[in-house]
Amino acid sequence: MNKKRELEKLAKKIEQCVLCKEHKSGKMVFGEGSPNASIMFVGEAPGKTEAATGRPFVGRSGKLLRSLIQQIGLKENEIYITSPVKYLPDSGTPTKADIMHAKIHFDKQLAIIDPKIIVLLGSVALQAVLGEKISVMKKHGEMIEKNGRKYFVTIHPAAGLRFPQLKKELESDFLKLQGYLQKEKLLP
Ligand code: URA
Repeated sequence: MNKKRELEKLAKKIEQCVLCKEHKSGKMVFGEGSPNASIMFVGEAPGKTEAATGRPFVGRSGKLLRSLIQQIGLKENEIYITSPVKYLPDSGTPTKADIMHAKIHFDKQLAIIDPKIIVLLGSVALQAVLGEKISVMKKHGEMIEKNGRKYFVTIHPAAGLRFPQLKKELESDFLKLQGYLQKEKLLP
């Protein structure tokens, strides 16, 4: 399978999807990084900066995420970063219906990239990807195995920016992730 081409086809489909745009605005933010990535980072929905540029995680929380990624030795061109909801919700936060609809396209994106580890950033990512409501605060720093895939749960960087204690937990989760990736030979 030509992953790059499959992703381009899926992006075109999402661009034509009327439901994806309902109560939302800005450019579509599909995701970026390597189509062959072993590690995929999944957020919530684009913010204003992302909707203006069409790129995921380029605002304040994105800067924090990208610096944590770099600190544990991962290179941005070797990973994939995306969010399940592809447009900026009018209310700022996606509704349950937004998340459930986004899952249809997101599952295809995940199947094409087929990463070894999926890092779930916050509760919307957990809900959209695993399809169930799981407490981030109970599960963060842990690896969940489901349907033959491995998911590492952590806090959304926007929450880390808002609450200093959560930023510490996020940093400590990334160190756990680093240890895990080293054990799996996904990092030197
Ligand atoms: N927050 C997200 O969850 N995704 C983005 O792309 C930006 C901010």
